[in-house]
Amino acid sequence: MSAVIIYASTTGNTAAVAEYMANRLGCEAVPVKDAGSVDLGQLELVVFGTRVHAGSPSKDIEEYIGSHSGDLAGKRTALFLCGMIKGKNGEDQLEKISSDLGIPTSAYFIKGKRVVKESASEIDAFLEALKG
Ligand SMILES: Cc1cc2nc3c(=O)[nH]c(=O)nc-3n(C[C@H](O)[C@H](O)[C@H](O)COP(=O)(O)O)c2cc1C
Repeated sequence: MSAVIIYASTTGNTAAVAEYMANRLGCEAVPVKDAGSVDLGQLELVVFGTRVHAGSPSKDIEEYIGSHSGDLAGKRTALFLCGMIKGKNGEDQLEKISSDLGIPTSAYFIKGKRVVKESASEIDAFLEALKG
């Protein structure tokens, strides 16, 4: 499946998850700041990843999704967040952001760098769901 991962990361957790996913999918992981050169046209799957600050996704990711809504229409899209809030509040945060961004297929990872190293099966499960 042709895919791209577009992400925003401040301290490297989202980047680590994005790189891991890109490796598994055989595609590129592109920081949103560099995503202007990505041609979404022929891609089947576009995955967005963002860190959460004060309950919000990166503004750059938000703006990218908003300004590419035409290109994204009809494509398979997915979202993952990297944050630190656990339990119900973490789930609520994911639900709100995924709803605000209009991307229902979504996952949440706490301590992304650790997840990649120690429990990457969480990420693999998300990737399997994307292929289905
Ligand atoms: C200023 C600031 C605000 C944050 N706010 C939240 C938050 O609202 N919810 C949350 O789950 N994590 C929050 N975090 C934690 C980060 O989302 C978490 O460390 C994440 O893994 C960072 O991803 P990154 O390494 O890709 O930047 C905050 C971190 C900082 C520095």
